[in-house]
Amino acid sequence: MRFSDKRIIVTGSGRGIGRAIARRFAEEGAAVAICDIDRTTAEATAGEINESGGTALAVELDVRSIESVRAMLDAVVTEWGRVDVLVNNAGITIAKPVVEFTEEEWERTLDINLKGVFRCSQLVAVQMITQGGGKIINLSSESGKTAKPNFTIYAASKFGVVGFTQGLAQELAPHGITVNAVCPGIVHTPMWEELDRVLAKRMGKKEGEILATRKDQIPLGRLEQPEDVAGVVAFLASDDANYMTGQAVNVTGGREFH
Ligand SMILES: NC(=O)c1ccc[n+]([C@@H]2O[C@H](COP(=O)([O-])OP(=O)(O)OC[C@H]3O[C@@H](n4cnc5c(N)ncnc54)[C@H](O)[C@@H]3O)[C@@H](O)[C@H]2O)c1
Repeated sequence: MRFSDKRIIVTGSGRGIGRAIARRFAEEGAAVAICDIDRTTAEATAGEINESGGTALAVELDVRSIESVRAMLDAVVTEWGRVDVLVNNAGITIAKPVVEFTEEEWERTLDINLKGVFRCSQLVAVQMITQGGGKIINLSSESGKTAKPNFTIYAASKFGVVGFTQGLAQELAPHGITVNAVCPGIVHTPMWEELDRVLAKRMGKKEGEILATRKDQIPLGRLEQPEDVAGVVAFLASDDANYMTGQAVNVTGGREFH
């Protein structure tokens, strides 16, 4: 099993892509910290993993608070002694035109999607430096490569994640720590179901119509599943990716090329 001696933190892993990533690591033998602002879903995901013979720890985490990040890291290090992989997955999307965005919505988006990645990476990097290595994987998006209407502020946060990944990769390379990002496309998660409802209402369409139209724009002909992202994250966390750092890898079914 690829990750049998690994201790892994996945933020925002109570549901959606983070949950699939955590389950994939657990299936391959890792001990996984399920960290989420929603304690109920974090406990449910950790419970599923533990019941199926894996090892998981549920930890309440708000990536908007450095104290919360510190408490989460302390809990993991107290339990398992080290952190081999950090996956910065927690994120939100508010889909609307810039002219309708409030300053509070801008701040919330950037605080979670970009500053949250900084907070978790900084504290975990200090831990990894003392250990002599590790891997950090950040969830960007196809919106981190090409911006689209209604997703402009989201894109600003996800472009930021790509830049942060590139710079941090170079800073941490001498310590044996790699830093990479994944850029998923349209992944069928609770987040996209909410987006479908919001955008359908805005455009006068029926529920489900936006997702169905988007599906037709995917060269591989199907919506992305959380497991499609989890497989690539697992690769980036494995020894097979030891010579990759500072990269932002598209996982979009053929929608994004640079
Ligand atoms: N769904 C997609 O199509 C898609 C595409 C590209 C990138 N992404 C990115 O992948 C990541 C996961 O997306 P998803 O679709 O699974 O979303 P989701 O909304 O289904 O799940 C996000 C999880 O993050 C948690 N979270 C939110 N705010 C938090 C905070 N402040 N602290 C800790 N946890 C918090 C939520 O409780 C939830 O469990 C996000 O970063 C998202 O931007 C998603």
